[in-house]
Amino acid sequence: FPCDVIRNFSIIAHIDHGKSTLADRLLELTGTIQKKSTGTNQQVLDKLKVERERGITECDLSLIAQWTVKAQTASMIHVANGKPHLLNLIDTPGHVDFAWEVSRSLAACQGALLLVDATQGVQAQSISVFHIAKERGLTIIPVLNKIDLPASQPERIAAQLQSTFGINPLDILQISAKTGKGVEDVLRAIIERVPPPAGDTEKPLKAFLFDSLYDRYRGVISLVAIQDGVLRKGDKIASCHTRKKYEVTEVGVMHPEEVPTSSLQPGQVGFVACNMKESSEAHIGDTLHRLGVPVDPMPGFQPTKAMVYAGVFPVDSNDFIKLEESIKRLTLTDRSVTIQRESSTALGQGCRLGFLGTLHMDVFRQRLEDEYDASIIITAPTVPYKVVYKDRTVLVSNPTEFPDVTDTSSKVKEVQEPVVKASIIVPEEYLGEMMDLCFSHRAEDLDHRYLDAGTTTSARAILTCTIPLSEIVTDFFDQLKSRSSGYASFDYEDGGYKTSDLAKMVFLLNGKPVDALAIIVHRSAQQNIGRLWVKKLHKVIPRQLFEVPIQAAVGKKIIARETLSAMRADVTAGLYGGHYERKMKHLENQKESKRRMKRIGSVDLPQEAFFDILSTK
Ligand code: GTP
Repeated sequence: FPCDVIRNFSIIAHIDHGKSTLADRLLELTGTIQKKSTGTNQQVLDKLKVERERGITECDLSLIAQWTVKAQTASMIHVANGKPHLLNLIDTPGHVDFAWEVSRSLAACQGALLLVDATQGVQAQSISVFHIAKERGLTIIPVLNKIDLPASQPERIAAQLQSTFGINPLDILQISAKTGKGVEDVLRAIIERVPPPAGDTEKPLKAFLFDSLYDRYRGVISLVAIQDGVLRKGDKIASCHTRKKYEVTEVGVMHPEEVPTSSLQPGQVGFVACNMKESSEAHIGDTLHRLGVPVDPMPGFQPTKAMVYAGVFPVDSNDFIKLEESIKRLTLTDRSVTIQRESSTALGQGCRLGFLGTLHMDVFRQRLEDEYDASIIITAPTVPYKVVYKDRTVLVSNPTEFPDVTDTSSKVKEVQEPVVKASIIVPEEYLGEMMDLCFSHRAEDLDHRYLDAGTTTSARAILTCTIPLSEIVTDFFDQLKSRSSGYASFDYEDGGYKTSDLAKMVFLLNGKPVDALAIIVHRSAQQNIGRLWVKKLHKVIPRQLFEVPIQAAVGKKIIARETLSAMRADVTAGLYGGHYERKMKHLENQKESKRRMKRIGSVDLPQEAFFDILSTK
């Protein structure tokens, strides 16, 4: 296939707007997959149903075992104007945590279908991905889906596309991915409107790595878009960024499963197997070249950046090695999790994991719980803070390492926290609720505008603001969904760092700090959070033989306090004499629960207490 008959495109769509259904129809129409007579074709491209939760339903979480962060790609052949064309569909992850990967997948395309549900209209995530695509100079083909539904409002949504994206309504295709109506037009538009990739067979090999898969037998399989040169089996290649060398054992195209070919030509998209052992070697955005013939790497390479951190500890500290092995096994298929060992006086040996976002963290936690059949404790999520000293800036992602900023001898000039630019789209009647929600999470620069006027249904508004990342890593998303009855869609992009009035809050039991419970809190929330947590601790910590003060402190200042009153020493004292067996059983029970206790200072804490404290938001 010479470049002029190749089209590389992806589909930008909000969850449930029909991306997988359309992909299936395209694959069927081009004969890439068989049409199933039942009409319930399993959506081939959509192995990643996990993305649903945050926009996403519970039952799909069962598919979590198959989760990888990867997008999936398929090539198809379509004859137009008497010539066979090679169409490469490059799928992009639909969730905001993977914005970086989205931008990488789009870098391998020249065009994108902007697929919008004609009953729902534009949603927050489509807007941000649209802008990434626009910035990359991609040709956008706007497509309204689900026009077979009586509730669809193609004219109104077309007007929305015009006002939101400046799209000419005449360019918009109207289809039903379900019935297949209009899908031929999509194929035609891809061939007519998307420009072919440029590329030169004679130039040195330059292959852009935009995705990777993990295969249990062959190790890492990289997905590449060939910019220049030809890639063949047996070629010796190297990575521009890691400088590691490899020998190509197999190349081929995704059709939609892997089909080996003799070579990959310029403009083509396909897979390369080259004995990469770990998925962390396949850096998304990397450029591969022929060994000894270096090329300029594709611009914009950045290593993945963890935005949410949490500690993971085994409930039984003897299980640490087993836990660590499970984590390592999982990261084979998920290159974007970072791991470091961590030890805590309260919880023992554990790992500190870094994730791209909260969805990513939830998915990984779920997989870990499935894979590792013992209980784990996951500490409250933290974001990476910047602590600025006179002569240096330190990135701190673990509250135990956060300095006491109230202590003037700590020499801390200021603390900065990561912020995001958030956008929320809701029907107008929920606008007030959403504003309250944002304000209560320290939002700034709040602004809103209407996407359309609303005729039969209410008008929809887009709310934008800057909000600290730490405010959205806990319960923000759940509140957003419940306070908008599920109607709000939410998206965010990196907004850099902002100076903030933050301090470390520690909790003391009988005067001794518990390291696993330290948190970073904004001054405005200190009182509330301090009071809330000591109350919670008071509820879950069993009474001891002596009185135990439970305190929340910021620096030397005690913010909140509860006192746990003492209990009687002998658990059998209240039992009347003679019931020997009963007495023995009580003593036995007491011994058993002692075994599972963690001793913090002089206070015995059951592991379950940590569970209760850390798991409830
Ligand atoms: P995610 O996999 O969650 O990202 O969703 P998606 O965008 O891939 O959407 P999917 O193709 O799974 O479609 C979501 C739902 O909409 C499914 O129940 C489809 O059957 C339905 N659907 C898709 N296209 C159409 C259409 O043209 N008409 C109608 N009536 N339903 C459609």
